[in-house]
Amino acid sequence: MVNSGEKVCIRGLRDVAAAETRISFVDPLGALYYAGYNIDDLIGKVCYEEIFHLLIHNKLPNKTELEALKTDLRSEMKLPDPILDSLRSTPKNCHPMEVLRTEVSRLGEYDENRDDNSEQANKKRATMLAAKVPAIVASFHRIRQNEKVLDPKEEYGLAENFLYLFRGKPLDAEEKDAMERYMILHADHGLNASTFAARVTASTFSDMYSAVTSAVGTLKGKLHGGASERVMHMLSEVPHLDDVEEYIQGMLFDRKRVMGFGHRIYLAEDPRSKHLKKISKALCQNEHRADLYAKCKKIQAVVHREKKIYPNVDFYAALVLNALDIHSEFFTPFFASSRISGWTAHILEQYADAVLIRPTSNYVGVYERNFVPIEER
Ligand code: CMC
Repeated sequence: MVNSGEKVCIRGLRDVAAAETRISFVDPLGALYYAGYNIDDLIGKVCYEEIFHLLIHNKLPNKTELEALKTDLRSEMKLPDPILDSLRSTPKNCHPMEVLRTEVSRLGEYDENRDDNSEQANKKRATMLAAKVPAIVASFHRIRQNEKVLDPKEEYGLAENFLYLFRGKPLDAEEKDAMERYMILHADHGLNASTFAARVTASTFSDMYSAVTSAVGTLKGKLHGGASERVMHMLSEVPHLDDVEEYIQGMLFDRKRVMGFGHRIYLAEDPRSKHLKKISKALCQNEHRADLYAKCKKIQAVVHREKKIYPNVDFYAALVLNALDIHSEFFTPFFASSRISGWTAHILEQYADAVLIRPTSNYVGVYERNFVPIEER
């Protein structure tokens, strides 16, 4: 008899701590801290670049550091010609997350310092990726629309440039503020599935591009960042406010998941959701969008009444992005373009920790099967 060596198996790694981190803390009681700062104290007072600096360097930048970072990020938003050529030859019906997954990987092919895995080189790569990921997303959209790929503007920060490069028109003050807040709220979130995937890849001392590619592929799924795109589909399937009750009851009866609800860690409301709800309310002033906002509020009330669960980050984020005129297929790429800061911070932390992440599994198959040659099967 083979010794199965059975270990305690924790399905889904629920409540298992697989790393120590200084980057962010997800408080189950409904708070989120970036390197010790409660997001409620940061939002509206800092720009996205300050959060990037905080996550990567564990401290908020001073004015000189911030200006230098903004300049670096802006210049890194320009994509190399081979990446633009690749985007132009990509089938137009590809999902933008498939395109992002491929192009992040391709960026690694053009890294002339690929053998330098020092902390300094990786921090430079993190800055480059934080700029190039949104640039890839925006450029693919422009190319797909048969529109010119634009250059970032000198006077804009990263969040404003991202939406400008995507839509091709300047943002008004409210849109700029919404975009900044959206990106800050999506910047990091503990050991979520995509960050874990990035850390697993980094733990083998594979390169940063490989680790981010793992993260992009993981974020794409509907139980993670792919949920917000499906929130929009759900809203389009509910014709009127009065249909919400029946629609949600039907979903729950069929034991379907309501996208944008529930969370592995939070026992209370997702702290990001309340900010996104406020932003979406302000943006949804016209008649059509006011109707969408009202539907969302009703869905929230029904789901909470029936299942005692709350909206997560993806629910009202869908409304914010819709109000910024972004098509739902691009919702997850916008999430990725913000989470890139958290991913790269965690990759750096994992390299410093230098431990291979390699769990085990309990074998539940059969033992001692008799081998039968192919001719006799
Ligand atoms: N709709 C309906 N019921 C739900 C939902 C939901 N969205 N989420 C959880 N539940 C129920 C679930 O059916 C179960 O009920 P019961 O005990 O009666 O069977 C209970 O709540 C616990 O669910 P769970 O599956 O143990 O929770 P989990 O920690 O494994 O899953 C989750 C977390 C986020 C995958 C899940 O809530 C879900 O599928 N949500 C919908 C997809 C979604 O919005 N994903 C975005 C996640 S947050 C942002 C991000 O990280 O990307």
